[in-house]
Amino acid sequence: MAEPSAKGESEKSRASGSGKAEGSTKTKLESDAAIPLPGDKPRPRTLVATERVGKYFPVRTGFFSRSEKLLRAVDGVSLRVRRGETLGLVGESGCGKSTLGRLVLRLIEPTFGRVVYDGKDIVPLSAADLRPLRRKMQIIFQDPYSSLNPRMTVREIVGEAIQIHALAATKKDEEAMVEGLLRKVGLRPDVMGRYPHEFSGGQRQRIGIARALAVQPEFIVCDEPISALDVSIQAQIVNLLMDLQDELGVAFLFISHDLRVVRHISQRVAVMYLGRLVEQGTTEQVYGASLHPYTRALLGAVPVPDPEKKRLRIVVEGDAPSPIDPPAGCAFHPRCARALKGTCDKELPPLAEHTQGTGHKVACWNPHTE
Ligand SMILES: Nc1ncnc2c1ncn2[C@@H]1O[C@H](COP(=O)(O)OP(=O)(O)OP(=O)(O)O)[C@@H](O)[C@H]1O
Ligand code: SF4
Ligand SMILES: [Mg+2]
Repeated sequence: MAEPSAKGESEKSRASGSGKAEGSTKTKLESDAAIPLPGDKPRPRTLVATERVGKYFPVRTGFFSRSEKLLRAVDGVSLRVRRGETLGLVGESGCGKSTLGRLVLRLIEPTFGRVVYDGKDIVPLSAADLRPLRRKMQIIFQDPYSSLNPRMTVREIVGEAIQIHALAATKKDEEAMVEGLLRKVGLRPDVMGRYPHEFSGGQRQRIGIARALAVQPEFIVCDEPISALDVSIQAQIVNLLMDLQDELGVAFLFISHDLRVVRHISQRVAVMYLGRLVEQGTTEQVYGASLHPYTRALLGAVPVPDPEKKRLRIVVEGDAPSPIDPPAGCAFHPRCARALKGTCDKELPPLAEHTQGTGHKVACWNPHTE
């Protein structure tokens, strides 16, 4: 039975003909809309896309209240991730990043909109029809402590998905696959018989990554995968993910509070505010020439510890409004120094390309231009 890398290699060459996605050299992913020139390498195809997808949660507003209101966790987001690339997703706590990540994987049902995987709308698919796709889309969670079953050995944790998807012909093949996966994530195969509590945080996250890779995925949502780890370990896990992407051609939606890490790992970045995308572009565009006042505020904010979530949290000046009752117009206007009275508080700015042909999009009536 082939190791995951074998499939990954073939996916990779199908994707771009050159291994890693074209976007891995950051300048090559400059534009969504750029016109190809003779001699340009073909762009990697879009693997995952959402089209105006939304998730509203019905919530009770008070303890004794009988009436329900809708919490707009994700409100009409369109994004796409190409084969083999990393799209970073950033924004303050509660802005809808994890909900969007789960929508993309159809772990939760959208209230409206489409989720397209490799050209196919997966929202109407039945559980049975979704099953073969489930294998191709995986998730790595923030907390390697709670996301691994404490009563299962490493062999069982990593082998479970191989069994579910019948990827090994014999028990021996399965054992060999688990062994190969552990090596791939930097663990010695002799740890197979051990339980999660016997490992450090970084090692547990490696086990979580091996489990995700076991089914030879094409796309992984990494939801704050390093936030719970010691700083010294974080770089190792990020480098491991980057190496795996090089080797297997897997695409990542990388959700993180750590803007430095997102800059390091992503070819493109999307900035989310109160359920919507407010800026999107290459990493160079978003970090080097940010257009949206919120992006600038995020980049200038100093992260502070969040004991509840056991990680750092970005704190932007001014209170974040409630997604149950978002402000009219641009939802950022109560906190924005550039707000235009009569426009920003009334009209919702669409996410649109700022300068034609650059692919750098912003949702703002008065963006920074300098
Ligand atoms: N099952 C649910 N029912 C009701 N509200 C929910 C549910 N899941 C999420 N929410 C709400 O949706 C909003 C977005 O939550 P989400 O977890 O997606 O944010 P996030 O950006 O991932 O935040 P964090 O950075 O803290 O992880 C929040 O207001 C949250 O309270
Ligand atoms: S639309 Fe107006 S309020 Fe919103 S970010 Fe832009 S300038 Fe600020
Ligand atoms: Mg989250």
